[in-house]
Amino acid sequence: MAARGASRSASDNEAWWKSAVVYQIYVRSFADTDDDGIGDLPGIVEHLDYLQELGIDVIWLSPVYRSPQEDNGYDVSDYQDVDPLFGTLEDLDRLLAAVHLRGMRLIMDLVVNHTSDQHPWFLASRGSREAATSEWYFWRDARPGTVPGEPGSEPNNWGASFGGSAWEWVPERGQYYLHLFARSQPDLNWDNPETREAVYTMMNWWLDRGIDGFRMDVINFISKDPRLPDAPLNRDGYGDGMPYFSHGPRIRDYLAEMKHRVFDSRPGSYLTVGEMPGVTPEQARDFTDQVHGQLAMVFQYEHVTLDADGDKWTHRRMSVNDLRDTLAKWQTALGESGWNSLYWNNHDQPRVVSRYGNDTTYWRESATALATVLHLHRGTPYVFQGEEIGMTNTRFAGIDDFRDIESLDHYTRAVGTHGEDAAVVLDILRRRSRDNARTPMQWSAASGAGFTTGSPWIGVNPNHSWLSVAAQRGAPGSVYEYYRALIALRHRLPVVVDGHFAAIDTGRDQIYAFRRQLGDVTLTVHANLSDLPVSVDRDRRPRDLVLANYPRSRIDLDRLEPWEVRVYVR
Ligand code: NOJ
Repeated sequence: MAARGASRSASDNEAWWKSAVVYQIYVRSFADTDDDGIGDLPGIVEHLDYLQELGIDVIWLSPVYRSPQEDNGYDVSDYQDVDPLFGTLEDLDRLLAAVHLRGMRLIMDLVVNHTSDQHPWFLASRGSREAATSEWYFWRDARPGTVPGEPGSEPNNWGASFGGSAWEWVPERGQYYLHLFARSQPDLNWDNPETREAVYTMMNWWLDRGIDGFRMDVINFISKDPRLPDAPLNRDGYGDGMPYFSHGPRIRDYLAEMKHRVFDSRPGSYLTVGEMPGVTPEQARDFTDQVHGQLAMVFQYEHVTLDADGDKWTHRRMSVNDLRDTLAKWQTALGESGWNSLYWNNHDQPRVVSRYGNDTTYWRESATALATVLHLHRGTPYVFQGEEIGMTNTRFAGIDDFRDIESLDHYTRAVGTHGEDAAVVLDILRRRSRDNARTPMQWSAASGAGFTTGSPWIGVNPNHSWLSVAAQRGAPGSVYEYYRALIALRHRLPVVVDGHFAAIDTGRDQIYAFRRQLGDVTLTVHANLSDLPVSVDRDRRPRDLVLANYPRSRIDLDRLEPWEVRVYVR
């Protein structure tokens, strides 16, 4: 263990992640080496040279722990082992060593708001009130005056994220347990000190193994208002408990304690990124404050909800104004004291080029324009596998093509329970389902997209016939080569990392323009985020142009073409 620990690179300098680019690997969809149709850890090792060539500094692995896989690993039944689907602990050690050998780092997903209902902690807890882990989950009696176990007798009216009540009745124990997600994902009771100790021990075990940090799943949900009160009703008829668990009374204490018990005594620094749905800019700034904060950065959601009307299953058109204002607001709010994480895509989001860009006529242009504005913001950019080649949403023929627990649950409820039109529900699933992000990585035009020679666990996007790594690597003007150039710019120019951010008002609705300033160096980004050309004021010198997504021969200083972006430095 000592040798592994010594080889890790987390100890370099304090905030090493500021100049880093993180690549998220959704392991089951990345690369399959044993032909079972599911990606695995040896598959990642085979592609490390590719990631290095792209310029990646850090890899984030979606959960590979032992799990019944009801939520594809976000339901953990053993935090200290690898699920046989993905390989073994030894495979993970080999991957880590290979990552470190290349000067890259690796962070793991940490899913500790809840466990799987198959975790031994939960199995014991549900079996007996005398068990050692009896109080490790939220157990509550039925609502007074009701018949326990009957609908309406749940301790409160909260709904779960994957549908239905957030409470499940357990006859053996004669109580309900709380699950903010699926019923197979019971929430851990962080108010119990022993629960917290067990989590810290597990985190330390992983850090001793040599990993470089954690991405923390819904970490702002771990402290619940102890009253667990009823909440105002949502569209689906359940109470929206968010105000009572998304920034609970002890959230800061718990994160500060975690920092103290896990990270502070170690030399060097670790990347800690907290996924925080509903976090406000002010809260995020405090969580990531460089002196008093508890985390390196947080994932906020505001910019990826601009095309939803209330809930995620109701679509509305995203307006460029809203997008621009939201992005700029977060940049400004976190300012010089906090730190942003920058992302368009992850395993929970439809592909951005299909969502905010144009995945037909301006596929290449919109993929590269969106990448440019994101990566040149202040913060640490995240690339979700396949984003670097402009992967798009797929076409799901019918409900049988979906795999995601959330999507299937929505369909069952909408069509089965509420009698909505199946065709309409399918349409919204095609647009919004998380499965859009989870189709296999498109390595080549081979059947199975070079991801597997077996039968993939979820259908390959048919556009792998032309959209693939093989088609783009080394191809001038490809999305992949553009990402490489963009990432290289961050590594080359300190202004990209440390520059102060200021939005520029161009008076044009479709344009997002901003400036980054470091000393006497100014970087300026002008992006047309629309399908229409737009005239611009000529105030740039062509010789300052450092990056553009249209051929230089086509650049007209008086206008921006659809999805054209230009980056100037002087
Ligand atoms: C957020 C994760 O990103 C998502 O995939 C998961 O379903 C929920 N948290 C529950 O763990």
